[in-house]
Amino acid sequence: MFVCPVTGGRLSSGLSPEGRQYPALDGIPVLVPDPDRFLARHGPGAWDLAGGLPTARYEDLPIDAPDAVTPHLPPRALGGRGGFAKWLGELGDRCPDAVCAAWGRDLAPHGRALDVGCGVGGMSRRMVTANRLTWAFDISPRAVLLTRDLLGGGITETQVPTHRGGLQRVRVPFAPIDSRTLTLCIADASQPPFPENAFAWIHLGNVLDMADDKSAGILLAASAMLLPGGLLTVSTPYDTDEPPVLDAVAPENELRETLGGLGLSIIDEDEHVPWVIREYDRGFRVMFSHCVAARRPTY
Ligand SMILES: C[S@@+](CC[C@H](N)C(=O)[O-])C[C@H]1O[C@@H](n2cnc3c(N)ncnc32)[C@H](O)[C@@H]1O
Repeated sequence: MFVCPVTGGRLSSGLSPEGRQYPALDGIPVLVPDPDRFLARHGPGAWDLAGGLPTARYEDLPIDAPDAVTPHLPPRALGGRGGFAKWLGELGDRCPDAVCAAWGRDLAPHGRALDVGCGVGGMSRRMVTANRLTWAFDISPRAVLLTRDLLGGGITETQVPTHRGGLQRVRVPFAPIDSRTLTLCIADASQPPFPENAFAWIHLGNVLDMADDKSAGILLAASAMLLPGGLLTVSTPYDTDEPPVLDAVAPENELRETLGGLGLSIIDEDEHVPWVIREYDRGFRVMFSHCVAARRPTY
């Protein structure tokens, strides 16, 4: 179910249409247009060479999460203190992943699911446990390897930050999935290695925020991979690193317009879904995500 990100031809067992073998990182295919250059810049050799130094030559694409486990937990299980803990308890399970997963369950037609920019695999796990045959990818090799080990049972224990500078051992709080239900690869959301009309449900969870000028291309690529009648779910707190400017267009309207321009109809929307990120036991970030469910027309 992969296509060559360069020629668009179908890939079988990691072979490009020209018979070239795509590289794999610890068994995970690297399906980006120039995989050798990508690995030289972002792969394990580069992790060592970069050695934490700011260099344009090597870039260790990080796992964009404070730890492996807490992004999987509902707000009610995140701890906190006093009134904040009470508020988290009142939120219960409500978070961007839960809102988008409910749309996926109720509104997406039968068929395969794709988690784009999967991070530590929170939505991938929800897709699999909703009995969807699931594909997932991320541009960060470390994130994809962690998702594989975390969801597949290769890791049963991990660590979460407690006080500043401190860690606590925790057991992974969910059962391993059947690895045959999830296919992972390393790929770029603006040039994804999948054919058109392939997925019934595609999720973009807080990926547009990191894409800067690539976000329209990512939405275009996602809409092309949807089956007719398929569902795109997007969550974004518009937490970009772009410099703020006066009189900028409201990003909510920009997203609605972009989706409309791609021929997708917004069928549900929730503008302020709390996204609580636990960084350590006294440190939390709260953003209010804009969550959208949009359908590709059936014709
Ligand atoms: C904020 S994290 C969100 C992770 C997960 N989707 C979630 O909602 O918890 C954004 C993720 O998008 C990935 N990402 C950013 N740009 C990407 C791109 N062009 N292609 C694929 N993944 C990308 C990052 O590596 C990171 O794992």
